Amino acid sequence: MAKTFYITTAIDYTNSAPHIGHAYEKVLADVIARYHRLKGEKVFFLTGVDQHGQKVQQSAAKAGVAPAEFVKGITEQFVDLWKKLDVQYDAWAATTDPLHKKCVQGILQRLFDEGQIYKDKQAGHYSVRQEQFLTDKERGPDGEFGPEWGDVEFREEENYYFRLSKHKEWLLTYIDNRKNAIIPDFRQTELRNAVGRLSGDLCISRPKSRLDWGIELPFDKDFVNYVWFDALTNYISFAGYDPKIDKYEDQPQGFRDRWPALQIIGKDILVPAHGIYWLIMLHAIGFPDDQMPQLLVHGWWNLSGAKMSKSAGNIVDPDALAEKYGADALRYYLMSAIVMGKDADFSEELLIVDFNSDLANALGNLMNRTLNMIHRFQNGTIKWIDVTTLPESQVRSHLQTWSEDELQAGARLYTNEFADFRPGNALSAPLARTLSCNALVEISAPWNLVKDKQQGKLLDAVLYHLAESLRIIAILISPVLPKAAHGIFDQLNWKMALSGKEERFSLKDAQWGGLPDGQVVGKPVPLFPRIETT
Ligand code: MSP
Repeated sequence: MAKTFYITTAIDYTNSAPHIGHAYEKVLADVIARYHRLKGEKVFFLTGVDQHGQKVQQSAAKAGVAPAEFVKGITEQFVDLWKKLDVQYDAWAATTDPLHKKCVQGILQRLFDEGQIYKDKQAGHYSVRQEQFLTDKERGPDGEFGPEWGDVEFREEENYYFRLSKHKEWLLTYIDNRKNAIIPDFRQTELRNAVGRLSGDLCISRPKSRLDWGIELPFDKDFVNYVWFDALTNYISFAGYDPKIDKYEDQPQGFRDRWPALQIIGKDILVPAHGIYWLIMLHAIGFPDDQMPQLLVHGWWNLSGAKMSKSAGNIVDPDALAEKYGADALRYYLMSAIVMGKDADFSEELLIVDFNSDLANALGNLMNRTLNMIHRFQNGTIKWIDVTTLPESQVRSHLQTWSEDELQAGARLYTNEFADFRPGNALSAPLARTLSCNALVEISAPWNLVKDKQQGKLLDAVLYHLAESLRIIAILISPVLPKAAHGIFDQLNWKMALSGKEERFSLKDAQWGGLPDGQVVGKPVPLFPRIETT
């Protein structure tokens, strides 16, 4: 069985509606997944929702409904949004799923039996409002706990702890020895420093008396599992991991074909959740070092430099944007207007400017004028011409370099950027080709060539070149702009039997000369109508 490219994202909390940050992460994963399918690889793309925990229980209580009912409503909003944004996942990880619950409990039981989980008593200051124990870090400059903590009382509570610190040295060595464990590099350094400061174990239970919306501990029914331990496990529970088998090599073949995953997460959940808890959890249940997942850590979308938050009321709603501008416009903006790993400021004006200049003016216009000329000058039929048989001319040399050197350089850039998980940069290959094709139209002026019988073959070659370039551009943009790519193929009348299906696109087809002599093309239909702002 061939190895599968396994990609996951963080699963989203169902305590409030999706926002632009959630949308960015899922689109990024979808684009990377589509690129791997384009390369002909088998892909397993998992995403889903994180349904348990205190935040969700509190939001449900505020809304006056049971948590199970509350999460159902929010989950629907996520599912609808992914559909609207063409995010095409292969499996859905909802942490209330009985299969997941069984896996979490199986792992907990094993760790408990092995002595990696123990019970202990904690005594200290407890915030009733925030429902958590406080440490000295939470004290203000005056040494007191601030009003945000509400009533603070002294409490004693028994809980279960996972022996995290026992694995600290292992984690340090693992990070030091594994290049690209975390991408980008500076995040790996950040994690290394955080692990260096690690002390103490991880409390993995909550007494049911204060939180009951969670997975019950299999060895003590008075407690539920801490939400992060539960949520992190989704990456293996939904991929076919069997908790009863402790040796990694004995895990079901289906699981091992998928694992290890490329995991896409935001910068806020690297330390401590994914970089420390998750890697140590995997190590503790027997995953070898070469089976640790790779963590791709993206930055945040802010608004005028400020963090988006519900309380500040500056949330950007991806659903409304997709409704207004279409999924492709939003996907294009999210991929092209941020540098992988860095933060970016969301700007609806820039979304419009980028769309109008790159898609409406450059690509849309190229498509439109190419098809129009083929219909006006050649009755809708393109003709293949051996360019080397044409007399020397400036246009001929452009045709040659653009179909050979530029195509190859573009393909190299495209695959290199995708290999480094930078789809935004990869897009510059099809965009450059679009611009050079528009330049070719100006240089060759087909409307003049058509008037001169002697130039008939050159005209054929130019129009073939434009249509064939568009076919290749469609393939290259398809991971980011699936709808537009189908639109281009449809109008070129190309692979119509697979219209609307992702299998229609393959990187292998991005080679010069695919369109046959005599191909009849369709009439132009606007792909990217300009967004007018006034
Ligand atoms: N439920 C946890 C993840 C559990 S994974 C086992 C969680 N949920 S979240 O809803 O708060 O965030 C989900 C993802 O969205 C995270 O990767 C987070 O970094 C990302 N983003 C949340 N706000 C964001 C922005 N403003 N910008 C970009 N991504 C952001 O954390």
